[in-house]
Amino acid sequence: MSYIDRAREKAQALIQKGHAVILSVESSCDETAIAIVKDGRSVLSGEIASQVDTHALYGGVVPEIASRMHVEALDPLLNRALEKAGMTFEDIDAVAVTYGPGLVGALLTGVSWAKALAYALDKPLVGVNHIEGHVSANFVAHPDLEPPFVCLVASGGHSHIVRVDEYGSYSLIGKTTDDAAGEAFDKVARVLEIPYPGGPLLDKLAETGDDTAYKFPKIKTEGKYDFSFSGLKTAVVNQAHTLKQKGETIDAANWAASFRKAVVDALVDKTLMAAKDTGTKTVALAGGVASNMRLRRDLTEKGKKMGMSIYMPPPSLCTDNAVMIGSAAFYRLMKGEIMDLDLNAQPSIRLIENK
Ligand code: KG4
Ligand code: ZN
Repeated sequence: MSYIDRAREKAQALIQKGHAVILSVESSCDETAIAIVKDGRSVLSGEIASQVDTHALYGGVVPEIASRMHVEALDPLLNRALEKAGMTFEDIDAVAVTYGPGLVGALLTGVSWAKALAYALDKPLVGVNHIEGHVSANFVAHPDLEPPFVCLVASGGHSHIVRVDEYGSYSLIGKTTDDAAGEAFDKVARVLEIPYPGGPLLDKLAETGDDTAYKFPKIKTEGKYDFSFSGLKTAVVNQAHTLKQKGETIDAANWAASFRKAVVDALVDKTLMAAKDTGTKTVALAGGVASNMRLRRDLTEKGKKMGMSIYMPPPSLCTDNAVMIGSAAFYRLMKGEIMDLDLNAQPSIRLIENK
């Protein structure tokens, strides 16, 4: 019997039981992460090796360096994840890995490593879409959360409003027509000379600023639920240059607060409108930008006023991690969706095909 036939049999047995302990790997960008998650909801261990300090020297992620560092980090992280969970390979039912979207070289390190492990252990292999992983972080944080719900996914590469119709099934409601929200935060942070990664530091600085100090244009888009951040970003950058040329100093905290308000207003208002218009009472946040303090506060406050239940993962599960991959993998595995050893990295894969 071939590997995939044995894997299918094992997956069927797990589906019958309705339980699985999954060892998951995430290496799509600049964090190497390995987790062990039970039944998509309970974290047995979750280890991360961040490369942020290294990439900070270059002002952004250097793909070649990211790949090399993933290769070095994977084996030690595996040992730590098993040790912290108090487990051996015998206890693992399946191996899961992020296969896209992300940096191709970075993805390939995790995919090759996970394939080798799944083959050596003779266990099913589950491929996970990174964005689906972000959404699934909510299942780990909130045992009571079940689809359907509307989810704002905002990260360094994506800004989508989706409706999670059921586990692993999504309808696209809106998305950015240009930059992702995280990308906009990072670019504006650069203008303020905030070092990489700009988003979290700009957020912190904004906490001490006055959000009415500077006037930035409101975000306008043709699609009711779409975002566009490039116009705002350009206006913010140009205004900064003009002020500098006039010899005026920019109050960085006020600047950060005013910019953050413009972005968060658009994210929150459109997400809540999407939920209201689709008759959905439950709203969740996901992705690196979901750790933004103002976004968390405003969505909670405005959502509650509209009678919505608001969910969000703790900040540690918003940015890249492997726990979220293990959660998403469980629901894929329970549908019998496993991969053969020809699984390849797909750097541009979408959450919803063709969208
Ligand atoms: O999801 P993530 O860790 O990686 C991607 O899949 O892209 O998201 C990283 C992005 C970066 O652009 C980062 O600046 C942004 O999320 N980010 C934030 C905050 N924390 C992370 N943006 C605004 N406020 C934050 N607190
Ligand atoms: Zn991410």
